[in-house]
Amino acid sequence: MKKKIRIWDLPIRAFHWLLVLCIIGSLISVNIGGNAIEWHAYFGYCILTLLIFRIVWGFVGSTHARFSSFFPTRSRILGYLGGQPSRYLGHNPLGAFSVFALLLALSIQAVTGLFGDDEIAFQGPLAKFVSSSTVDFLSEIHDANQIVIYILIALHIAAIIYYRKYRNIDLITPMVVGDKEVNDSEKGKYFPADLNQASKDGALQRSLALLLLSLIAVIVGYFITG
Ligand code: HEM
Ligand code: HEM
Repeated sequence: MKKKIRIWDLPIRAFHWLLVLCIIGSLISVNIGGNAIEWHAYFGYCILTLLIFRIVWGFVGSTHARFSSFFPTRSRILGYLGGQPSRYLGHNPLGAFSVFALLLALSIQAVTGLFGDDEIAFQGPLAKFVSSSTVDFLSEIHDANQIVIYILIALHIAAIIYYRKYRNIDLITPMVVGDKEVNDSEKGKYFPADLNQASKDGALQRSLALLLLSLIAVIVGYFITG
């Protein structure tokens, strides 16, 4: 018998795939150059909104969305490296590092972008509030940090392929449909607490997420147009 357990609620899945689309959009537009830099900024604002939403959802979201459920503490890392690799239904401790690293690197990129200047026709909306040397410094960080982001994304995708090919674990389907399937025979591999705690993903949680996302979008909009 197989049991389906909801791991990734709809808000997390929507966050993930919208983030991927916006990053692709922001990279295409910045490489087109010229007026497309405006689009680069719009994608950047969407990424910033998504990231703030994800951080708040990490505190108020469903079980497996919460940072406390996958924060890589010493004992979790040692347990994982000590041979309990299949025991996590959500992010495992090493995956958690990559999640936090991605969120941090993307946040640095989105925030520094707000102060950026392409030295042609575009200035980030907050550049006028700081000195030109600060704008130059933050633009350099924006430029250099892209490498960190590319490396993290490459590692992220390589890890997913590794799990699929060498460990026979499909991580992608749950990030699309939300559920993981656990065979009765495999149940012993997981933490009992995990098996009994599916992520809540009903109309109430989804409405709360939508409300939160809208509120964050309005606040971000206020700061970039104000
Ligand atoms: C996470 C979101 C973002 C990513 C991944 C990203 C990525 C990039 C990349 C790869 C470049 C090219 C750097 C170069 O080769 O010179 C760039 C340049 C630029 N970006 Fe972003 N960006 C993001 C957010 C933003 C935001 C929110 C703004 C402004 C509203 C912005 C404004 C600029 C500007 C003005 C440049 C050209 C000058 C510079 O290098 O600072 N970016 N961005
Ligand atoms: C722009 C590229 C990408 C970025 C920035 C990115 C970012 C992220 C982030 C931040 C998470 C953590 C989700 C959360 O808890 O909030 C995550 C998880 C995940 N991503 Fe991506 N992602 C990217 C591309 C992809 C692609 C192309 C795939 C599929 C081939 C993918 C599949 C997954 C999966 C399966 C997880 C869950 C991993 C697990 O079970 O621990 N991602 N990603």
